[in-house]
Amino acid sequence: MNKDILRNISYGVYVVSTTDSTKSTGCIVNSIMQVSSDTVALSINHQNYTNECVKKNKKFAISILSTDVDDNIIPVFGFQSGRDCDKFETIEKINIQGIDVIKDSIGYLICELTGDIIETDTHSLFLAKILDGDILNKKEPMTYAYYHAVKKGKSPKTAPTYIEEKTDEQGLIYKCKICGYIYKGDINLEPDDYICPICKKPKSFFEKI
Ligand SMILES: Cc1cc2nc3c(=O)[nH]c(=O)nc-3n(C[C@H](O)[C@H](O)[C@H](O)COP(=O)(O)O)c2cc1C
Repeated sequence: MNKDILRNISYGVYVVSTTDSTKSTGCIVNSIMQVSSDTVALSINHQNYTNECVKKNKKFAISILSTDVDDNIIPVFGFQSGRDCDKFETIEKINIQGIDVIKDSIGYLICELTGDIIETDTHSLFLAKILDGDILNKKEPMTYAYYHAVKKGKSPKTAPTYIEEKTDEQGLIYKCKICGYIYKGDINLEPDDYICPICKKPKSFFEKI
């Protein structure tokens, strides 16, 4: 199968947030769809901490990200786990109905699980009722295609849309130790002030894999 065909399914880029017993947490999710006027469906990997927190709390928020979203939001929410850090520590938030949402977003939906969860080998497919929602900033929504084409962003293995990275012809491939961004080719040929396009760390943060 030519997996590139899957890159042609359109998505947005969102932060799904909820709480654990001590703090707010969440992760980047692209696989969200509106099922009806008051119901959404979303797919979250079993390995993601957000999966178990959504199952426990049942209530969560979806923050809709824009094309000019703060550069820290995708690295923090998409490449780190809430098991190891407090993701909202450095991110501006607003509390709506007890759930922290991203202030620098187009807006939010507050949702509650309907109880219907379909389990695949790797992901849980959640169905949820929309309880509330509002616009915070009128901006252009970021699509998953924009994230890849313009932001040159990557997706971790836990994203349902992850496609295995291929090495370049020389077989050289480097990974940013902070956000997981994959650089194909010889990074030593980049200028000294080269920075990771996702988390903006210098090239000394890249390791050969
Ligand atoms: C652009 C992008 C899209 C993603 N989409 C999904 C998704 O739809 N479902 C999912 O489970 N993980 C997705 N991820 C991966 C999670 O955001 C990532 O594994 C995160 O670190 C999990 O954090 P947690 O362990 O705190 O839940 C995506 C990541 C990125 C960068």
